[in-house]
Amino acid sequence: MRQFKLSRRMFLASTVASVAFAGKIANAATPKDAQIENIIANMSLEEKAGQLSIFADGTRSNNPNINPAAAKQGIEEVKEQIRKGTLGSLFSAKGAEGAREYQRVAIEESKSKVPLIFAADIIHGCETQFPIPLGEASSFDLDLCERTAKMAAFEATAVGIQWTFAPMVDVARDQRWGRVAEGAGEDTYLGNQIARARIKGFQGGDLTSETTVLACPKHYAAYGAVQGGMDYNTSDIPETTLRDVHLPPFKAAFDAGALSTMTSFNDINGVPSTGNHHLLTDILRDEWGFKGLVVSDYTADEEMIKHGYAKDGRDAAKKSIIAGCDISMQSHLYNLHLPDLVKSGEVPMEVVDESVRRVLYVKKQLGLFENPYRSLDPKREKTDIRTPKAIALSREAARKSAVLLKNDNNILPMKKSGQKIALIGPLANDKYQTLGTWAIFPDYDNAVTLEKGLRNQISNQSLIKSVKGCEIEKPISGGIQKAVEAAKWADVVILAIGEKQEMSGEAQSRVEITIPKPQQDLAEAIAKTGKPVIIILSHGRALALSGAVKDANAIMCAWFLGSEHGNGLADLIFGDYSPQGRLPVSFPVYSGQQPYYYNHRPTGRPQGPKDERFYKARYIETDNVALYSFGHGLSYSKIEYSKPNLSAKTLNFTNSIRASATITNKGKRTVKEVVQLYINDNVASLTRPVRELKGFKLIELAPGESKEVSFEISATDLAFINHDLQRRAEKGGFTLWIAPSSVTGEAVGFELV
Ligand code: GLC
Repeated sequence: MRQFKLSRRMFLASTVASVAFAGKIANAATPKDAQIENIIANMSLEEKAGQLSIFADGTRSNNPNINPAAAKQGIEEVKEQIRKGTLGSLFSAKGAEGAREYQRVAIEESKSKVPLIFAADIIHGCETQFPIPLGEASSFDLDLCERTAKMAAFEATAVGIQWTFAPMVDVARDQRWGRVAEGAGEDTYLGNQIARARIKGFQGGDLTSETTVLACPKHYAAYGAVQGGMDYNTSDIPETTLRDVHLPPFKAAFDAGALSTMTSFNDINGVPSTGNHHLLTDILRDEWGFKGLVVSDYTADEEMIKHGYAKDGRDAAKKSIIAGCDISMQSHLYNLHLPDLVKSGEVPMEVVDESVRRVLYVKKQLGLFENPYRSLDPKREKTDIRTPKAIALSREAARKSAVLLKNDNNILPMKKSGQKIALIGPLANDKYQTLGTWAIFPDYDNAVTLEKGLRNQISNQSLIKSVKGCEIEKPISGGIQKAVEAAKWADVVILAIGEKQEMSGEAQSRVEITIPKPQQDLAEAIAKTGKPVIIILSHGRALALSGAVKDANAIMCAWFLGSEHGNGLADLIFGDYSPQGRLPVSFPVYSGQQPYYYNHRPTGRPQGPKDERFYKARYIETDNVALYSFGHGLSYSKIEYSKPNLSAKTLNFTNSIRASATITNKGKRTVKEVVQLYINDNVASLTRPVRELKGFKLIELAPGESKEVSFEISATDLAFINHDLQRRAEKGGFTLWIAPSSVTGEAVGFELV
């Protein structure tokens, strides 16, 4: 190992710094392992910096646009970096054969022989795409979320990927933010449950398994709180909100075993997450005892210069490593500056060693030291992707993720024969608009559009006429005319409209979350024909619906449902299955209401019934309500809820009470129902949300069947982050609902004494 001489001043500086950091590191120290300590002891500073660096692999990416900078690299150049130990992981590529060769170089030709990790953004499927995460969250089906994550891991490991930069667990309350598409929506409780399910799916019970991947709940933290819903913007929130709303899904993910996390691009109250010691060390390590690794988002360390938080790359590297960001993504800053920062005494060696220790610890947990070729088996690529099981799961997930918002006169489900259908709109038959954002290795050829799905189920193909009518963002000359003619010919119109998939996801914030005007004009023209209209929306966020779209006979949220988009929708439209989806985000009346979320605080002038309109918390143009609220969704049956019954009217800090309601299917078909438990803390030392989701149960009800659904409630369920940043329940009155959405249900009260 190369030694370097420390001057007396440098020695003192590094000693003082070390003592300061030793306390911190000691609190959250990574378990000591002889093999790991031996590797660290024999690593040069340059090799340590290499272990703490991850780069996009441009040599094996099927989509060079993902990382143009990396696309210029050659295989030999990457191999040389691996030999020199200047990189510890690669991402954004697939292919077991190529990864296997890079791994061979790492363990046979490099000095430290530390295996690489191969990563990618497997966000909602790998070769088989599932619904975008926001869509899948609509299912409120935790078992489904776990199974799709497990299948995504199965396929990812079949193509040489061992680490996924997922699940995204950012709570998003502003639908202008394009990345709401990647997560579980606006509610923390739902976010916690889905985070847990997805971690279990990705990591399984054995991280050394050939078919599980390391998960990476992201983006830590408060990325969903960016001001104005503008991506990469500032998040200015009190620590009570940070801890009450935005951190819990990360804690849930770590408690479920997640061993990595990714820093977010935003600053929190002026401190960028990647250089945020309070976030990355005080909370993550010292409070939560997180033992995994922290990776920066793409050049997020270097972006601290643009944030005005770091003077230059060297300063950014110093702030990042000292804050607790273990791996630098794509910026090269750790390669360039860590050796010098340690030699100068500005960064103690043990800070670097602790980060290397964490990275090696995680690699060991993945079994890579014993089995470096884990999940790098080229044979699996031929047998384990797009299997019938994966396709069937994708179709099931599509069915369960669509949300039926409106169904006047039960126009849905439709018959498969005996009626003429005009299928109109730019989202009806565009395979590129089925998979949604972050389909990193997209297989559009096999993607099933709505039209294909409908035609797959109809024997007489002459009964469907398909007319685009307009493009997604621009009119087609004569398009509306053709569409109107088709509508006049038909008995019913299915209007497939919405966003293109590029309008959500990263760097896709919108000021107006509306249907693009050419499509709105098309809808208005179709409405004038007087024909019944069923709207099938494609979208990556909640939308502000208006005019003929809002007034259509039926509206279904179809998000981007993945490889089986069209088949899943056809299963619902023709009634083979009943919709079970419920909204994970509120649909506002106007874009201008953003950020709008159901669990808002009451204010001192909450708006009462319609007539209380003046001097109330509302807008001139609208009451501050949702057009369709969080938790809303219809099935093909009529479901009735009894008033909740409580086992006791008072609760103390050591016992629990049971809240129950009887749910009855008054219709003629078996349906799924998402029974939701909401609670309001009437009076507290901080104002509390008008309602908060505290539980939900997905049940099945046969025609005429009644089921009693119960929830156990303890003081823990009533706790919130207090002034002193402690999670605590307070005595007093509470209101409870067991309901089909966040704005319905009968209220009952109880006391915490
Ligand atoms: C992107 C995204 C992040 C992703 C990373 C690697 O910028 O913010 O979610 O995991 O880069 O692709």
